[in-house]
Amino acid sequence: MKTQAAILWGQNEKWQVEEVELADPLPGEVRVKLASSGLCHSDEHLVTGDLPAVLPIVGGHEGAGIVEAVGAGVTNLSEGDHVVLGFIPSCGRCAACSSGHQNLCDLGALIMSGQEVAGGQRITARGKGIGTMCCLGTFSPFVVVHESSAIKVRNDVPLEKASLVGCGVTTGIGSAIYAAEVRAGDVVVVIGAGGIGTNAIQGARMAGAEHIVAVDPLAARRDGAKFFVATHSAKDTDEAFALVQELTRNNMANSVIICAGVGEGGLIAGAMALLGKNGIAVMTSIAPYNQSDVKMSLLDLTLYQKQLRGALFGSSNPRFDIPRILDLYMDGVVKLDELVTRTYSLSEVNQGYQDLRDGHNLRGLIAFD
Ligand SMILES: NC(=O)c1ccc[n+]([C@@H]2O[C@H](COP(=O)([O-])OP(=O)(O)OC[C@H]3O[C@@H](n4cnc5c(N)ncnc54)[C@H](O)[C@@H]3O)[C@@H](O)[C@H]2O)c1
Ligand SMILES: [Zn+2]
Ligand SMILES: [Zn+2]
Repeated sequence: MKTQAAILWGQNEKWQVEEVELADPLPGEVRVKLASSGLCHSDEHLVTGDLPAVLPIVGGHEGAGIVEAVGAGVTNLSEGDHVVLGFIPSCGRCAACSSGHQNLCDLGALIMSGQEVAGGQRITARGKGIGTMCCLGTFSPFVVVHESSAIKVRNDVPLEKASLVGCGVTTGIGSAIYAAEVRAGDVVVVIGAGGIGTNAIQGARMAGAEHIVAVDPLAARRDGAKFFVATHSAKDTDEAFALVQELTRNNMANSVIICAGVGEGGLIAGAMALLGKNGIAVMTSIAPYNQSDVKMSLLDLTLYQKQLRGALFGSSNPRFDIPRILDLYMDGVVKLDELVTRTYSLSEVNQGYQDLRDGHNLRGLIAFD
């Protein structure tokens, strides 16, 4: 079928919205008509080259919609099913999936390669086969994806908002609950209160943190964080340090979750300094692929038994966590509606990313018809 998609043809170029040919689903695949696509910072990392993907690529990895065609051999999904797309596929059979780490599924190796799980590329534009961000490519009203990327969800959740759970919400909440192991009464610092960080704040609140400090240079993000029940805010880690000293009588934070737009090595020392004994710092931000310089006190790491760990997809199990987060949304525990600052059409995708760079959006969302 013919449809539209936003394609990145070269690094530091604009997204080109153009007509593409989308092939029918192969065995194991489904075609999904999307309701919306979130504008996550990770697609911006494709543009800047922080994430070295094979170009050209159809962008977008935060989507939800309705299955409208099913390839041979698909047993878990039927036409009409509502699905959220997981930005890491989960096969359910590899060592990672079968040991409770679906976020680390072996199929994740494909997400920057331009290959699709079932083999060749499904999209053709300008006479060329084109891969998709995270084996999804949600900057298009239709996607053909492998069933390992599509997670069936309840039918009564508004799909436009459900797309956010395919990356940002699950990544943020999981970064707090699973990766940072937040517990009742904890003091948690979240560095970067954008689309992911705000959800880390929601996660810390759900886990029962007593104090949640949002660190962001932008006043609008600090105010927004308070709406998501951050108890305090600071414009940088120095300001946060004095605040956390006071809040904890110098015991410092139980965890620090780094969600700044770009994971610079220079963020680490400030984050580690905010931790108290046994504290855990979580690196959720994506860093430029060639960033390998980190300065921090190794003696401090040992003597205070601090930990620094990474988190992909919030260390979650998407097939379990995505439906669960949607239940929590329907029960009023998780906020989704308030995450969306502005809705765009597909042709406005470059404006959406300019608004992200300018700090205007908590989350931008492309809505399809
Ligand atoms: N680990 C994962 O699985 C995963 C998944 C999705 C996104 N990410 C990454 O998470 C990061 C955040 O994504 P997002 O969509 O929330 O981005 P965003 O652009 O919406 O938000 C980033 C926020 O960080 C703030 N910020 C920038 N520099 C800062 C600094 N030095 N100190 C404190 N705050 C700072 C910005 O003002 C902004 O509010 C990105 O690097 C993204 O690629 C990781
Ligand atoms: Zn994302
Ligand atoms: Zn797997």
